[in-house]
Amino acid sequence: MSPLLTQLQRSSPTCLSSATCISVAIFSHHQMSTNARSVASRLSSSGFIRTQGFIGGKWVDAYDGKTIEVYNPATGEVITNVACMGGRETKDAITSAHNTFLSWSKLTAAERSRCLRKWFDLIMANKEELGQLMTLEQGKPLDEAMGEVTYGASYIEFYAEEAKRVYGDIIPAALPDRRLFVMKQPVGVVGAITPWNFPLAMITRKVAPALACGCTVVIKPSELTPLTALAAAELSIQAGIPPGAVNVVMGSASDIGEALLASPQVRKITFTGSTTVGKKLMAGAAETVKKVSLELGGNAPCIIFDDADLDVALKGTMATKFRNSGQTCVCANRILVQEGIYDKFSIAFSKAVESMKVGDGFVEGVAQGPIINDSALHKVESFVQDAISKGAKVLIGGKRHSLGMTFYEPTVIGDVKSEMLLAREEVFGPVAPLMKFKTEEEAIHIANDTNAGLAAYMFTTSIKRSWRVSEALEYGLVGINEGQISTEVAPFGGMKQSGLGREGSKYGMDEYLEIKYVCLGNMS
Ligand code: SIN
Repeated sequence: MSPLLTQLQRSSPTCLSSATCISVAIFSHHQMSTNARSVASRLSSSGFIRTQGFIGGKWVDAYDGKTIEVYNPATGEVITNVACMGGRETKDAITSAHNTFLSWSKLTAAERSRCLRKWFDLIMANKEELGQLMTLEQGKPLDEAMGEVTYGASYIEFYAEEAKRVYGDIIPAALPDRRLFVMKQPVGVVGAITPWNFPLAMITRKVAPALACGCTVVIKPSELTPLTALAAAELSIQAGIPPGAVNVVMGSASDIGEALLASPQVRKITFTGSTTVGKKLMAGAAETVKKVSLELGGNAPCIIFDDADLDVALKGTMATKFRNSGQTCVCANRILVQEGIYDKFSIAFSKAVESMKVGDGFVEGVAQGPIINDSALHKVESFVQDAISKGAKVLIGGKRHSLGMTFYEPTVIGDVKSEMLLAREEVFGPVAPLMKFKTEEEAIHIANDTNAGLAAYMFTTSIKRSWRVSEALEYGLVGINEGQISTEVAPFGGMKQSGLGREGSKYGMDEYLEIKYVCLGNMS
């Protein structure tokens, strides 16, 4: 494994090597649920499951014929095998992206906008199939997966509109015979490295603004969830986005990452994933001085003040903690509860958590699917054990689910302290640690006492406190009396070691643009 990039996934320490995959398969004695199996075979026979990489508008196998298995995490069964690509395929994808950049960037904004709008329409028209594919390979409940399709598509719709709003400036000149202009131009080829927790939305919120600006892209989706990415790429071609504008290579994370970093033609790296990998990518991008945007790990505090509306706080905390089985970078990671409301909140919260239905995402009423893989499950287990050994109390859950596989019981842990792993690091699983605090100052101190700075939440009925605490929190996103705040129209991104740059909103466009100053002289 390369010293530069050992993995490009959020939270799990290494990509699933084929050896790990085999151990997952052996571990499972479960049968794929009838529903999952029939969905897989229907999607496969309708051509919706693509297994090759996508380079220059063509579906291609890995040059050495290698493949990797894609698993259903709810059953451990293999859905299909996909091409396992590396440096050579990535170089070809970069060349094709570069060639297409020359023409795509010359189209009018309105022409690019129309292609994006068509892509949005096609994704929405295939919402059910894309949602099913996502549940199959990622495990999230079908309703949640369909919600992600709508969420992911919203970035394409938004940036189809923003494509037409890349304005420049005229600057009053310092000398009378000069005219000064600022124009914005696409950076060029973009390498987009995306995680498994949102197999579609993390792609569209990178690729849509890039294409809108006139850039072309090479996507490296997680090898755990490549099928949604490949289906989206197929729809991009059907939408009229030209061959070579969107390329997808998957396989060896280190080889693909290194090829993207080494190429002088790649002018921008955008990544969502772990902080460790983000730092390596940032260092690697320095060699050719590429632009980088990084959306890295969080350690979100969720502060429940004594004056909170209990029902609002319960609903919001459930939404932020248990979305995607706790596997999002904006999930509440530490739930700070003021002493006056602690008992009431912890009893009601535990009751709500206990009632969550766990299971295969295709089963009606399931609110929580499996954790993505074995190593992620072990991490969750070790964090819970660490907390218990240091005096925390399990209020609900706290162990593997009787369903087996990587299912874990939705868990609430009380009396968590700052020194425990659960409070220091991102658990990325369905575990809610409760921490008691006395004063607002103490809550702010605990909340900011971390290297992370992505999302923070608070529940209070005081408007003054809302402002005061929002200003004091060192976080890129703050939710007040709301647990799910991500939207295409607002900027998403972190402070401190949670990342660089913003995705979504008008600010998301700037990440793919160069600013050029033009001086027109001797005008008199
Ligand atoms: C993430 O977990 O990386 C993204 C979550 C979101 O878009 O809300």
